Amino acid sequence: MNTRQLLRSIPTSSKPRISSSIRCISSSSITAQIPNSTATSSNNAAGPSLTSSQGRTTHFGFKEVPEEQKETLVGSVFSSVASSYDVMNDAMSLGIHRIWKDSFVSSMLPKLPPSLHQNPGTSPIEVKEPFKCLDVAGGTGDIALRILDRAREKFGSRDIQVEIVDLNQGMLDEGRKRVAKTLYYNTPQITFTHGNAQALPTHIADSSIDLYTIAFGIRNCTSLPAVLSEAYRVLKPGGRIGVLEFGKVSNPLFKEIYRQYSFQFIPIMGKILAGDSESYQYLVESIEKFPSQPEFAQLMRNAGFQTGQLREGKGGAWTDYTNGIATAWTGVKA
Ligand SMILES: C[S@@+](CC[C@H](N)C(=O)[O-])C[C@H]1O[C@@H](n2cnc3c(N)ncnc32)[C@H](O)[C@@H]1O
Repeated sequence: MNTRQLLRSIPTSSKPRISSSIRCISSSSITAQIPNSTATSSNNAAGPSLTSSQGRTTHFGFKEVPEEQKETLVGSVFSSVASSYDVMNDAMSLGIHRIWKDSFVSSMLPKLPPSLHQNPGTSPIEVKEPFKCLDVAGGTGDIALRILDRAREKFGSRDIQVEIVDLNQGMLDEGRKRVAKTLYYNTPQITFTHGNAQALPTHIADSSIDLYTIAFGIRNCTSLPAVLSEAYRVLKPGGRIGVLEFGKVSNPLFKEIYRQYSFQFIPIMGKILAGDSESYQYLVESIEKFPSQPEFAQLMRNAGFQTGQLREGKGGAWTDYTNGIATAWTGVKA
């Protein structure tokens, strides 16, 4: 079943009316569509609990769906867009996503001194433990490849490994094809695992990861606290988390232009370039439903991460790119 068929299968009572014009979508109308009392001013930022799915609903873009259906719906979106994902990313963001990802990876890997990947108490000649990264919702490998390239080009290091975890086999397959064209192919530096951010595969042990990244993936997950709690579990003490996601634009004029662009052009572009407007309609709606910068930083703190102050910029919990279209939140496991 494709995304359109799946959406049609949702009972009408659980489908809120979506206006064709975003001018008609006010935040209060969005909130009113969320039956749970967990809804906040912008969305149900805390997310529903993974364990109490019975009878509960969650958002899938602007639609309200039974919690247990969300992963299937998200899966169908990414199965549909997998083969055109990279082209669409460039088209939708005018290539700017590359700059965001480069900046994000540079900030997560500012340096790679031997101390970062050496076992404590060993000399550099002894066998070193590689620096272990987990790129969750890693899709086609955009972040993983940037991490490996940066370590090699900037620090001359190949003692670094990235495991990509993604829920969608189609995205993983596209990632594998892409890695096959690189010098990391068939090396232990990059591996692909089919798995869920909310319940990571069991071979990823507690306190085993140095760096956890998730880029443009967490907003698709049913429970943000579950994802953050898993990230906390697998990171080593002192390990870092970086979340790159669409943020809230701060400038009111730019915000309006951006919303018009997102809602009017992206689904049309999806139709033209990928033959699928519904999936891209979901992607823009899911951006609207994601928590604001301080709300998400608070969720990271609630999960146990140390963050900067609840503000943007140096010493703050997040960094905005392009006026907040994208945002990088960072934290450390205490
Ligand atoms: C927009 S893509 C981002 C891919 C890549 N990180 C990038 O920045 O280009 C979102 C990815 O999240 C994955 N995803 C969605 N829900 C997930 C979940 N619960 N666990 C793991 N991956 C998930 C999708 O399959 C998809 O590959």
